[in-house]
Amino acid sequence: ILSKRIVVLPGDGIGPEVCNEAVRVLRAVSSRFGHEFTFDYQLMGACAIDATGSPLPAATLEACRQADAVLLGAIGDPKYDNDPTAKVRPEQGLLRLRKSLGLYANIRPITAYDQLLEHSPLKAERIQGTDILIFRELTGGIYFGEKGRSEDRTSAYDHCTYSREEILRIAHRAFQAAETRRHQLTLVDKANVLETSRLWRETVQSIAPKYPSVALDYLFVDNAAMQIILNPRQFDVILTENMFGDIISDEASVIAGSLGLLPSASVGDGAALFEPIHGSYPQAKGKGIANPIATILSAALLLDHFDLPEEADCVRDAVQHALDQGVVTPELNPTTLYSTEQVGNFIAYSVLDIADCEVH
Ligand code: IPM
Ligand code: MN
Repeated sequence: ILSKRIVVLPGDGIGPEVCNEAVRVLRAVSSRFGHEFTFDYQLMGACAIDATGSPLPAATLEACRQADAVLLGAIGDPKYDNDPTAKVRPEQGLLRLRKSLGLYANIRPITAYDQLLEHSPLKAERIQGTDILIFRELTGGIYFGEKGRSEDRTSAYDHCTYSREEILRIAHRAFQAAETRRHQLTLVDKANVLETSRLWRETVQSIAPKYPSVALDYLFVDNAAMQIILNPRQFDVILTENMFGDIISDEASVIAGSLGLLPSASVGDGAALFEPIHGSYPQAKGKGIANPIATILSAALLLDHFDLPEEADCVRDAVQHALDQGVVTPELNPTTLYSTEQVGNFIAYSVLDIADCEVH
């Protein structure tokens, strides 16, 4: 019997609601396939600041270090967003966690679901068949460089630094992913302006000969932002630095039809964390309208990480089944009004292979 310990960080806003559904689905997987998953709930984000004063309490970090995987809901609270002078912020918890666990590669799949083509503001014929895998560097760049203010506080700076080593380790992963897909890798940078981007190009180019089956090309980030919504099918694997990856992945979510559909995996040399790409959506908190699918699909990536591809596919099939049946939250179908929990339940029941998947 396979036994795994999963730390759950529900976080803030809708985080706890979407995590509940992902855990429900993982429990269905464990019961259908006979695995043993234990769930250890810990505090991170604004809820952790409220309870302990720290966005990432030592106990949380330690539990994450010991776990086989971490599942995260979302963090963030408007009371910090609207206070630029706040000394502690929920986001510091997430950034410190990524850094401490060495999660340098954030992998974000972008898929256009046939059932939802009409939901995207982009033309269906333009997005149909889109299948992009974004590799976003997650523990370097401007997010982690030195930052500060001048003495009189009237000027500020954020340094962007990358080392060849930091670029190499994620670039190898991106090339390897391209080898298993459509053999195309696009590096997104701003090499016409930024020195860090020129180092990215030089470094990625230097290892390209190791991957002869992969065609490597380059796009400036401004052009990439346009191409992603103009002709998304041209992309297979995209590799980019931290901040560009943050920005283009939210943009690319428009292709899927809802930010509530996009999962991600953050991996490094040891630990692994799985989280939806969306934020804590505080306006929706407690209303039961949050889409749990991004978190449920993140749980599927977690199963892939446990080397359980059949289980992961079972979850993805169950999600497809919910989309086929129109069992989706209101942002995707404002007439049926299925709740977060109803969507999660439907998917969990499908995993259990109950032939007649009623909405519970
Ligand atoms: C993301 C988020 C985070 C980021 C925030 C919450 C710090 O936007 O995971 O994309 O910018 O990395
Ligand atoms: Mn983001």
